[in-house]
Amino acid sequence: MALDRSRFFPLALSRGFFIELSGAQLGEQTDLFDGALKAAKGSLKGLVFFDSNNRHRGRLSKKCSGAWPRKTHKYLGHRGFWQVSPVVHVLGIETSCDETGVALIRAQPGSGSSQTGAGASGATGEILAQALHSQVALHAAYGGVVPELASRDHIQRLAGLVERVMSEAGVDWAALDAIAFTEGPGLAGALLVGASLAQGLAAAVNKPVIGVHHLEGHLLSPLLDPEAGDLRFPFLALLVSGGHTQIMRVDGLGRYALLGETIDDAAGEAFDKSAQLMGLGYPGGPEIARWSTSGRADRFDLPRPLMRRPTLDFSFAGLKTAVLTHVQKLRSSLALDDQARADMAAAVQAAIVDVLTGKCRKAMRDTEIHQLVIAGGVGANQALRQAFAEISRQDQCRVLFAPPHLCTDNGVMIAWAAALRVLGGQPPSRASGFSVRPRWPLAELPLV
Ligand code: KG4
Ligand code: ZN
Repeated sequence: MALDRSRFFPLALSRGFFIELSGAQLGEQTDLFDGALKAAKGSLKGLVFFDSNNRHRGRLSKKCSGAWPRKTHKYLGHRGFWQVSPVVHVLGIETSCDETGVALIRAQPGSGSSQTGAGASGATGEILAQALHSQVALHAAYGGVVPELASRDHIQRLAGLVERVMSEAGVDWAALDAIAFTEGPGLAGALLVGASLAQGLAAAVNKPVIGVHHLEGHLLSPLLDPEAGDLRFPFLALLVSGGHTQIMRVDGLGRYALLGETIDDAAGEAFDKSAQLMGLGYPGGPEIARWSTSGRADRFDLPRPLMRRPTLDFSFAGLKTAVLTHVQKLRSSLALDDQARADMAAAVQAAIVDVLTGKCRKAMRDTEIHQLVIAGGVGANQALRQAFAEISRQDQCRVLFAPPHLCTDNGVMIAWAAALRVLGGQPPSRASGFSVRPRWPLAELPLV
């Protein structure tokens, strides 16, 4: 390791962690880091300063920008702590609703400009292992999620899934940079299971924890796709899950401006409730998609609420009422057969797809932002994906989806969102009790 012209530098070098204590005076041209950073590139995990000041900051930024990818180091005030962490390993735990998800991600910052790619850094991630247990069968008999059953099932499954992921990934606990968990929003009891296991593990293996916002997890999951590498801020995001339907403008990690949202039911809820009214299975989204393949969407005329209004808000309650009216008529004339179910399913799907695509097109026109990321469970819908593929050709815009298995709840998105925050410079915290936030507006997230 080359160091030049410093006056004092007792040097401790132990297992890749390099500590340097320097007696350089303020303003002195020591060129202390030049050779050291170049020589250590790729093998240095942390760089810690005591007593640093703004002059150090300026000099180090200049020196680092050539030798290191940007965003791998961050000035944290007069404590002078700069984090340099070229590769991070994050374990992610998701238990906000009815899926127990665990994943281990390895992520690293990109080398591009700070305006490109995931988390403003072009970061890339690799899923080393993942495991998912769906509680669909458990809740199916009730036609919806039963919170108490969900929490109990998470308790039974979670530790086993964590063990499986850690052993499949072949990564030692000591190599983890953080343990991430869904802190909210979600079912309080279910969230507590993930939070308590994450915090307990973190305390046991002496690792920091990071609480992740579930919707940020969804929102950032499409950026795990290598093709997202040159995505630029700002972009638009459509978040469509069982509980949310929102269009956002994303200006950076944690910088989310809400442009429109549902004023009543979410799109996923519209799928679920319509399926329930028709006596199809649970959850409704995948069932409606399956029945639609043998149905004719034009047999039933269903409303597209708020479609022609200038707002970017959504409304799906009227759709549900229209389905109820049709189903009641069909039942009373004994005509609710499988073909009627398939036709109604196709009509519901077409109505929801029309509304979602219509509003997103409007959002792109209004904002003149022609990049759109689609996330959340409804994003798994093939008809929606095809409709957006067609729009991206017609309107010459870019539409990015997460792979279908990462659209619904999973541990990968939690590990990935946490990894982006860590790479962006957000220091994870030490385990501290069991905080969860069943209600947590996205706007309250810290910026990175
Ligand atoms: O994101 P998610 O897994 O959980 C929440 O955070 O809500 O989304 C679940 C929602 C459910 O409403 C489900 O019916 C819907 O996503 N969904 C689908 C499909 N797969 C899941 N909706 C339409 N088509 C699908 N293929
Ligand atoms: Zn979700």
